[in-house]
Amino acid sequence: MAPTEPNAIPFRPKGEIPVFKEEREGWKGYIEWEMYPEKKKQVEEILKQYDFPDPPEFQLVPLPKTNPILTGERFKQYHYATGLGHLVDTSWQYVLKEKAEDMVHVLQFPYNGEPPGDRLVSTEITRNEDFFVRNHGGVPEIDPSKFYLEIEGLVNNPKRLTLADLQNKELFPRQSNVVSLQCSGTRRLEQIHQYPGDGDELINAPWAEGAIGAARWTGVSLKKVIKYCGGLKDGAMHIELFGADTYFKKGKVYNYVVSVPWRKVKINEVLLAWEMNGKPLPKLHGFPLRAVVFGYIGARSCKWLYKIRGIRDPSEAPVQRKEYLYYTPQIGKQNALYSNGFSIQDMPVSSAIISPKDMDVITHDGKVKLKGWAYSGGGHWPIRVEVSPDGGAIWYEVPTENMSTKYYYAWRLWEIDLPLDPEGWLEFCVRTWDNALNTQPTYVRSAWNWDLHVTSSCHRIKIYSVNRSKPATAARLKALEERGMSITPITRPLPIDLETDDQYAASMDEQRGREPLE
Ligand code: MTE
Repeated sequence: MAPTEPNAIPFRPKGEIPVFKEEREGWKGYIEWEMYPEKKKQVEEILKQYDFPDPPEFQLVPLPKTNPILTGERFKQYHYATGLGHLVDTSWQYVLKEKAEDMVHVLQFPYNGEPPGDRLVSTEITRNEDFFVRNHGGVPEIDPSKFYLEIEGLVNNPKRLTLADLQNKELFPRQSNVVSLQCSGTRRLEQIHQYPGDGDELINAPWAEGAIGAARWTGVSLKKVIKYCGGLKDGAMHIELFGADTYFKKGKVYNYVVSVPWRKVKINEVLLAWEMNGKPLPKLHGFPLRAVVFGYIGARSCKWLYKIRGIRDPSEAPVQRKEYLYYTPQIGKQNALYSNGFSIQDMPVSSAIISPKDMDVITHDGKVKLKGWAYSGGGHWPIRVEVSPDGGAIWYEVPTENMSTKYYYAWRLWEIDLPLDPEGWLEFCVRTWDNALNTQPTYVRSAWNWDLHVTSSCHRIKIYSVNRSKPATAARLKALEERGMSITPITRPLPIDLETDDQYAASMDEQRGREPLE
């Protein structure tokens, strides 16, 4: 377990810790907030009494090398102060139970984690235990036999459906699709390194390249459920999705609420899923029911779904209205408003090199294997992946046979044996073209945005090349090997003479000396 964050102050209760009633029998950790404004107000008053720890500083300094990287002290304390402290421990227990042992825990609580790179690109369908998790709160524990979904708001016949109802094939046809979920924070680290402090959301989630994955999701199309309720009425154009987890923002408490436009639902691109890769949803991924919104930012795929509502305009809940906004580069800390950012929906085309890793030293024979992922949202798919060994002057196309299956809504994994002659530090980069011929901005700078979302610029890594197919390099490696030495670490000065005096003299003869003739 990581040590607590350096600026964490220990939690000391101010008076009696409140007990908020759980809303439904068999639903542990689900407190309904949205229906009870007075309860929300009470929490606001409680939170005002405390000085919570500040977020740790890591943007101007390297991230801690601990796992968890960040522990989320202030989030833990919001929960302790409001009587929800037990969620901190139960949520972590699910991480230990459901996730691979070597998961990279970006934030311990609320849990944010991504798989190590080698497994991220080892299978085109991501294993459940390796799939990234992005939580805003604790994990509710819902007894599936006590589960029901409420459908209300601007629908003609509001209904309550149990899991058994939703799974009844007589009522609803089943739908199953391979879909990628991508958090808009994927590859945020690259923006943090160049623009520390430029975003309020990023302090919770310094993601690398792993906040993406693909799974086969099975459930029922939300469209069929709305039709079963007699369709929408009174000009409803959006569907609001309610998640049973508790979410704190700027001194207030909420349930996790987002919305999707009806036009998206109408084309069967919003699934209410209970299965992930043929198994019941893991608790961390929204058991027993979640939304999966194809091609959109992951934030709309609401987990622990308990209610859906027909509404006229996009949801006014803070996740929809105040987060996941994309600002133009003219907007920054001094002038960002909720209203001057675009609401992120379709994910742009993007890609990443996962192997080798940034700063790797590679000894090779004139070819280096590169592996990575490529994705485009909004129903687009990658058609061409190109990699460059020199920062983007020369590009090599990944052979199509080295790209995984094409899906309308999922990533493609790729690999290429890149011809590589030069030695020393090189900048590798990747860019992808999708079927609509969109491609990626060139530099992080070209796509910088306040809050550091959607890092979709060409992914760049530095590698150090040692090309054994060059006779001089082969000879140097052999000389080192004979002495039981290695060329790495490359920062270490070579402890051997570069050539003998005889070799030097012979070379000088060949070059006709150092000096010009006259
Ligand atoms: N739904 C609820 N109820 N609570 C959440 O915190 N996080 C969202 C979305 N759905 C979230 C949620 C975000 S930001 C993302 S990227 C995806 O879930 C991640 O899905 P996963 O954790 O299953 O990978």
